[in-house]
Amino acid sequence: MMIDSKYRNKNLQVFNNDTVVTEGWYWALQSRELKIGKAKAVRLSGKDLAIFRTESGKVVAMDAYCPHRGAHLAGGTVEGEALRCYYHHWKFNEDGKCVDVPCLKKAPKAEVSTYPTEDHYGLIWVWVGQGQPHELPIVPDLEGHDVDVTFAKPYVKNCHPNIVMSDAIDVQHFRSVHRIPGNILHIEGRKINDNTLRYDNVAAMPTDTVIGRLLAPFYKKQLTYSLCYWGGCAGSVTVGPDFQRYHIIYANRLGDNGVSEGQVILLTKRSKNALGRIYGKALLGATRIVSDYFANGDTPQFDSIKFDFKTPIKDDKTILTFMSHVEGLPVADWGFSKPNKINSVDLSPASKSKETEDEACTIS
Ligand code: FES
Ligand SMILES: [Fe+2]
Repeated sequence: MMIDSKYRNKNLQVFNNDTVVTEGWYWALQSRELKIGKAKAVRLSGKDLAIFRTESGKVVAMDAYCPHRGAHLAGGTVEGEALRCYYHHWKFNEDGKCVDVPCLKKAPKAEVSTYPTEDHYGLIWVWVGQGQPHELPIVPDLEGHDVDVTFAKPYVKNCHPNIVMSDAIDVQHFRSVHRIPGNILHIEGRKINDNTLRYDNVAAMPTDTVIGRLLAPFYKKQLTYSLCYWGGCAGSVTVGPDFQRYHIIYANRLGDNGVSEGQVILLTKRSKNALGRIYGKALLGATRIVSDYFANGDTPQFDSIKFDFKTPIKDDKTILTFMSHVEGLPVADWGFSKPNKINSVDLSPASKSKETEDEACTIS
């Protein structure tokens, strides 16, 4: 049995590492949970935040602990575009600067860090990272369209977000766990940019099985299955026949003790007329069934897996590409993540010698 040690856990610096947080947009809470004039406490990958919606509707995310004596600012009161600490009533504006202390004529120099936020697809997202914020996770098929969204049940999985996300390109498990017949999925990763990796199915529907013959008329060419990774913790999936595609985004963040905390966004194009809206609602219901089907099959292994890639075979190349993509992501200075210790290694399957690649894909 041949093993390519580059992919072993002990040699990975970023992938499946629960002491680092890669740069990216991470979900904080659902938009509907944050009403105008209210503040919420959110723990996001080892960092405590106070997130509030100002009177004008803007969302502000700031470090949770007051620079006076450390009270949690989410216990405070929103005043216009600012947040006032409940303890001694110091007031912080949307840039985190202290602008008022009731017992002083002039506010002292005190401030809390704030972070970029976006209200997008029904979630509040927070930018984690030193660099310029990336594009937010989207469904490429729905780009430029108004969408309706709803959510499947949020989840906590007992493994790293990279492991949860790698499932979506695990070709073997579609056959073994989800009972998708034959070889109807042939996907290969295609780098869109440093943060974005996309997989599309390229295989024509095989017509040598009854199921294949039944499904083939619904697809002009190949069965639609595409997945776009945004960083290593979020991905959008588009699946379904030509006349109706289902769209799902899996948004994960690393929680304490190495768990994944996830939101599942179900999306459909928004119709302009009332009948279309009713159809859209039914579609979102169907999308939920698709999402639950895939989620339920995977639950047992997410709760017990000790990921360690000892023996990749050819069908695992999709996963090696994803691992390589994640290893190349910049690490953020955030929560329990300290970027200076990390030197990413190049795991790209394409960069390896033929001999090594054969070895990596051999079981005997
Ligand atoms: S701890 Fe916040 S004002 Fe004193
Ligand atoms: Fe799965």
